Amino acid sequence: MAEETVRPWDETKIIGKPIPPVDGYERVSGAAVYPLDVILPNMLYGAILRCPHAHATVKKVDVGKAREMPGVRAVLTDADPETRIEWYAPMRFPGAPVAANSQASRLFDPHCRYEGEEVAAVAAESPQQAWDAVRTIHVEYETQPFVIDVEEALKPGAPAVQEGGNRARGFPGTKRGDVAKGFAEADVVLEETYRTSCLIHVPMEVHGSVAQWDGDRLNVWDTNQGPFGIQSDISRALKMPLSKVRVISNYMGGGFGSKQEAGKYTVIAALLAQKTARPVKLFLTREETFLCVGNRPAHVMKLKAGVKKDGTLTAFQLTAVNELGAYPTFSGVGGQAGELYQCPNVLIDETQAYINAGQSRAFRAPGYPEGNWALEQMMDALAEKIGMDPVELRLKNIPTVCQSSQNRPYTSTGLRECLTEGARVFGWREARSRPKGDGAWVRGVGVASGLWGPGSGPATVIVKLNSDGSVNLNMGAADLGTGTKTVAASIVAEELGVPLDRIRIENADTGTTQYSGVSGGSKTVSADGPPTRLAALEIKRFLLEMAAEQLKVPVANLDFKDGTIVVRGSAQKLAITELTQLRMQQEIVGVGRGRFVPGNKVVRSFATHFAEVEVNRHTGEMRVLRMLAAHDSGRVMNLLGYRNQVFGGFLQGLGLAMTERRVLDSDSGKMVNANFHDYKIPTAKDAPGEMTCLPIDPHDTECNILGAKGLGEPATVPAATAIANALHHAIGIRVTAAPITAAQVLTLLAEPKTRG
Ligand code: MOS
Repeated sequence: MAEETVRPWDETKIIGKPIPPVDGYERVSGAAVYPLDVILPNMLYGAILRCPHAHATVKKVDVGKAREMPGVRAVLTDADPETRIEWYAPMRFPGAPVAANSQASRLFDPHCRYEGEEVAAVAAESPQQAWDAVRTIHVEYETQPFVIDVEEALKPGAPAVQEGGNRARGFPGTKRGDVAKGFAEADVVLEETYRTSCLIHVPMEVHGSVAQWDGDRLNVWDTNQGPFGIQSDISRALKMPLSKVRVISNYMGGGFGSKQEAGKYTVIAALLAQKTARPVKLFLTREETFLCVGNRPAHVMKLKAGVKKDGTLTAFQLTAVNELGAYPTFSGVGGQAGELYQCPNVLIDETQAYINAGQSRAFRAPGYPEGNWALEQMMDALAEKIGMDPVELRLKNIPTVCQSSQNRPYTSTGLRECLTEGARVFGWREARSRPKGDGAWVRGVGVASGLWGPGSGPATVIVKLNSDGSVNLNMGAADLGTGTKTVAASIVAEELGVPLDRIRIENADTGTTQYSGVSGGSKTVSADGPPTRLAALEIKRFLLEMAAEQLKVPVANLDFKDGTIVVRGSAQKLAITELTQLRMQQEIVGVGRGRFVPGNKVVRSFATHFAEVEVNRHTGEMRVLRMLAAHDSGRVMNLLGYRNQVFGGFLQGLGLAMTERRVLDSDSGKMVNANFHDYKIPTAKDAPGEMTCLPIDPHDTECNILGAKGLGEPATVPAATAIANALHHAIGIRVTAAPITAAQVLTLLAEPKTRG
């Protein structure tokens, strides 16, 4: 079926309703088998010895004792030739630039550039025996001077993390108009330096793999966001054909961007399994995952902005220094400064710097909540300076075209409605003018907007209608817990009128399902949803043809309603199970193919968040009382999943704004809070007492054949900044460095006149 002839639905029966997850029972009852739960006959357990220093050279590794330890079946170090593979940090984020001077490392690289770099690995009969053996490995390190701060890393004479220097090259900037002219035209010019901290993903399921060889074929159970990407990483690392590598991840316990790629642990598990001719399970400890499997890197963002008294923006100049960690990945914060508001003069210059710490990975809208922290606090400060309401200032500068993409139009933009409807439902005007309180606790409200460009991509989905009217749905995409399977099943149910509980889903297995890209970039619905619908539509077409022949009626006179074929203008109808042809061939298979959406228009999701906070003037404590999110992510596919995404977005934003920070010790370079006790993830007790999700649907008929744009990442983009702006409204101080701590608040309160 040609995609061009299909339009998004006008009316829906299932899509957009609050549908509970189709695998909810399995997930909450413990019946679902996650990769971490996989136990294979005869299985060994792997453990990795990691460099305890921020920067060191390995001089000697002595594994003599480890080999003799009880239960040990294999030990691997850099001395084993099979480990001498070129390992590039895979980066699967669509459109992400890669540093030109990127450095391949070995699996056990003798140059350890961060605390946690792999040095050796063991496979043993039990995890305890593996760890006991790891502890007996004696390593002679020559420690090196280290650098753990991006600004220090760029100074002359700083310790070199990468041989090519600490500045990663090859990242483009943005230049539009003339910022000097823009600042000259402005009535008010403000400049401020904003900082965000390094955050850790901490998905519920730790990273890891189970590797099993079957002759020259490798099976890997791996917890990840897209098995086909893991398959290609493994095949590249081990120089194996894709067909010989099977990656299975039917269930997985969260990722947020840290599970888009294979880890060294995946390949180490495969090599240990090869060496021992037994399956090997290698999952990291929670502590290891704080060090080695990615993070949202820290940023230093100097932002200068010009505005006229009437609210017209004249120029943005953003100079950012972005942390990469010890190896090249993607890290950029300029996306929104170049696009969120109409502004003729923009100059964005971003420097990517290496430091001696674990490398960053994509983290729920990589760079966007951070860039938002700078841009949207600046908008708040500009509004204050010109005496304009912050919602009004944003409304005044809504973009009409995508300025960062040759001024191409958007397929739809609901940013205006996000601001106006959000303000109305939140009660912005009243809350903004309400007395703040005269006791210790004072209140304030803040607003921030944001955007995100959801991707698309190739995917093939197969839908099979059985002779009893039940359906098998076969899709490659991983479900991160966002409800991918539920949305896909709902699409099929919508088109074929089959109840959800008669649909069985196979997903995320390179051996039995068809290609899908990574579940990331907020693109799973827009990449995998259209082929799902096309596959269902193909089945519908075959059904109508069968019915036309059986009833001797032209296809044009037939309709398909609630799983039954009806003849228009007649009482005649035919259930699927009454189709003779279907009974003869037993099944109908529909195949849907997705692709990259052609680029004459730009797809963006927009959002505005509102927050109300309460701050204690004497202690500096802050509580978030309520938040409201107005989102234009196009059509709501599942209202329940939609709300959950948004509420999770609030909490992750709250973490960025108030509680989360990787702390590296300045004396040793080591992470001092690599555990759940000292690394503070917001819990239910930190959640705002009132959370409101307000979907804005602009009825986008051009983004794809669903009309849905993508929500996962936008849900957290403006959340932290809305909180920071509410703090400013409450007590008049602006905390530019996240997270906002009570100590920072008290310090700033003591010097109120130095801040805008
Ligand atoms: Mo994401 S950061 O697109 O998994």
